[in-house]
Amino acid sequence: MHRVYMILSLMLSSAVAVYSQNCSKVAFTLPVSSENAIFTSPPNPTNETDIIRFMLEAFRGTPPPTKGSTTVSGNFTIIGTYCVPSQQTTDKNALQVLVHGITYGKDYWAGLGFGDEFNWHLAANARGYATLAIDRLGHGENPQRPDPLTVVQPQMHVEILHQIMAAVRNKSPPSPLNVLGRGYDKVIWVGHSYGSFLGSTIARQFPADADVIVLTGFSTTENFTDVLTVSWTAAAHHAPATGNLPFGYLTLANEADRTSVFYAGDFDPALPPLDFWLEDTITDGEAAVIPILLEPAPEYTKPVFVATGAQDVFFCNDPTVAECEAKLAKSRVDFFPNVAEDDFGFFAPDRTGHDIHLHFSAPLTYAAVHDFLDAKLA
Ligand SMILES: *[C@@H]1O[C@H](CO)[C@@H](O)[C@H](O)[C@H]1NC(C)=O
Ligand SMILES: *[C@@H]1O[C@H](CO)[C@@H](O)[C@H](O)[C@H]1NC(C)=O
Ligand SMILES: *[C@@H]1O[C@H](CO)[C@@H](O)[C@H](O)[C@H]1NC(C)=O
Ligand SMILES: *[C@@H]1O[C@H](CO)[C@@H](O)[C@H](O)[C@H]1NC(C)=O
Repeated sequence: MHRVYMILSLMLSSAVAVYSQNCSKVAFTLPVSSENAIFTSPPNPTNETDIIRFMLEAFRGTPPPTKGSTTVSGNFTIIGTYCVPSQQTTDKNALQVLVHGITYGKDYWAGLGFGDEFNWHLAANARGYATLAIDRLGHGENPQRPDPLTVVQPQMHVEILHQIMAAVRNKSPPSPLNVLGRGYDKVIWVGHSYGSFLGSTIARQFPADADVIVLTGFSTTENFTDVLTVSWTAAAHHAPATGNLPFGYLTLANEADRTSVFYAGDFDPALPPLDFWLEDTITDGEAAVIPILLEPAPEYTKPVFVATGAQDVFFCNDPTVAECEAKLAKSRVDFFPNVAEDDFGFFAPDRTGHDIHLHFSAPLTYAAVHDFLDAKLA
C-alpha cells in the first residue's frame, strides 16, 4: 500500500516538475586548501568498531584530542542542483545556497523527490528566490570520496562553501569559478543541522559571505544523546553497492532508528522508508572536529533566522512550542551577540521533528522563512 503510494507520488512529482520547476545540475571545480586537524590517536582504519567509538566521542562531549593542524589541498568537484524562479515570478536577484545535514545529500532540499509540498526549491522559487543545493565534499553525487578522517573535516567544508558563496555573488569581473551563468546581488545561506553549524562557522570566519543566514534544525542548546543510542555502521557494510568506501564513511544501521531521530509529530509515514533507502553518510572526520562548529560569531551583524521543529530531538524536544521558542531566541545571545534583536527571527512549528520541511508543517516553515527574507532584503 505504502509502496504503491510512494511510486505514485514519485511519478506525480516528476510529472509536475516538467512545467513548474526550472532546475539544472551544475558542477563547481574548486582549488581548495584547509587547515585540518591532526588527531593524537586516530582510529584503526580497518576496525569498524574502533571508528564508530572514535566518532561518538565528539557527540559524547569528549572530542578526540588533536595535535595541531596540517594544510590539506585538493581540486574538488562539488555538484549542485540549481533552480531559478519561473519567468512569471519577480526575480529577487537573490540566491539561497542550501547546505544539507548529516547522512543526507542535496536531495534533502528537494524532499527526496517524494512530493512537491516537501520541496524547498519550489517554495523558494515561487517567492522569487533562486536556489543552489550543493552536495558537501564526500557526499551525494560528488565524484570524489576523499579520506574520511584527514580530508573530510568541517574546516574543509567551510573553505569550499566560502569559495562558492564568493563565486556566485554579482561582481565585476565575474568569478571564473561561477558556473551558474550569472551572479546574484544577494547571497543567502540556508543550512540544515550540520549545515546550519557550518553556516554559523562561515558567519564567524567569513562574515561578508552571506547577506542573511537561515539556520534550520538548529539551536545552541544541543542534546546529542540520541546520536549515541542509535546504531551506526560502516556504509560499506550497509550498502555494499557503494564498493570499497573507507570504513570512516558511516551511516545509520536501521530504519526505525533513523525515523526516531529525524521525524516526529505529523509526517507522511511513507516518507521515512524512502529516506532510509536513500540515506547518505557522515565521516569520522566530520564528527571528530565538531567543537569548531560550536562557537559564537561576534563579527557577523546581518540578519539571522532560525527554524526548528518543536519536537526536534537534538535541538528542542520540549513539551511546549513556547519552550522551544525560548531556546531559539537564546541562540542569538549565544552565537550572534551583535545581530540586532530586530534582525533576528525564529519559528518553531509544532508536531515537527528534526527534518523540518519533511513534515506536514512545511508550508508554514516556507512562509515564515520567506516572509523574513522579503522583509530583510527589501
Ligand atoms: C530556465 O532558466 C534559464 C536560466 O537558468 C533560462 O535561460 C531559461 O529560459 C529558463 N527556462 C524556462 C522554461 O523558464
Ligand atoms: C577494534 O576496536 C575495538 C574498539 O576500540 C577493540 O575493542 C577491538 O579489540 C578492536 N579489534 C581488533 C581486531 O583490533
Ligand atoms: C589543482 O589543479 C591545478 C591546475 O590543474 C594544479 O596546478 C594544482 O597543482 C592542483 N592542486 C592540487 C592540490 O592537486
Ligand atoms: C536529552 O535527550 C534525551 C533523549 O531524547 C533525554 O532523555 C534527556 O532528558 C535530554 N536531556 C536534557 C538535558 O534535556
